[in-house]
Amino acid sequence: MKTVIANWKSNPNSLREAARLAKSIEKHASLNRKAEVVIAPPFIYLSDVKKEVSTAKLGAQDVFGNEGGAYTGAINLAQLKNTGVKYVIIGHSERRRYFGETDEFINKKVTAALAYGFKVVLCVGNKEKMSDPSNFVNKQLTADLKGVSSKDKIRNLIVAYEPIWAIGTGNADNPQSAAEVSLRIKEHINKLMGVGKIKVLYGGSVTDKNIRSFISRNKIDGVLVGGASLNPSMFGRIIKAANELG
Ligand code: 13P
Repeated sequence: MKTVIANWKSNPNSLREAARLAKSIEKHASLNRKAEVVIAPPFIYLSDVKKEVSTAKLGAQDVFGNEGGAYTGAINLAQLKNTGVKYVIIGHSERRRYFGETDEFINKKVTAALAYGFKVVLCVGNKEKMSDPSNFVNKQLTADLKGVSSKDKIRNLIVAYEPIWAIGTGNADNPQSAAEVSLRIKEHINKLMGVGKIKVLYGGSVTDKNIRSFISRNKIDGVLVGGASLNPSMFGRIIKAANELG
């Protein structure tokens, strides 16, 4: 089964628009049940998006600590769980870049979120184009997964390979090299913790036009979609493609 995750980032600007988008995604998800569809809206819309979905799953774009406490502005794992969130994106390059998140901080969040039973979508990716990004990406993974072992509900780990240069540029990675990086990631996780079956998604300028070239490769288990997930008809076609290739 292929996974398609809508990362709305800091969009849209109104609840009305968020509900409309969620309704459309739910419609496509329910018509294409061989695809696993996740919506990750801004925190402020989670409860309202939840009302619109039954087939599509709810995701969060980030999380802070485990339980409550004196952490102004933070959303914790207990709150997400009690809101019906099943997936948590951690370590997105925009969190690393604009919010100063380090591998050490990301490692704490990944460990806590796995322990809490979430499906964790851990994002990694190289800034500049590289002929072989695997070493860079695997180094990031080693740091982000420090101390995590096969005992830690590792089957709930999903890795998203998102080369930063491909994000929001309309300039997606070459599907064959993305598939090679995905394979290297799987091998690396296997080496790190003896688990080879984790899902690896590709993200970076995915559209309805190029999705098939990525997910038709069996090393790529789905896509993490930014801009195109805000376009209801385009995202509908992305879900359909994932269903057909599932
Ligand atoms: P775009 O699909 O807009 O390139 O964004 C990718 C991304 O960052 C998803 O997390």
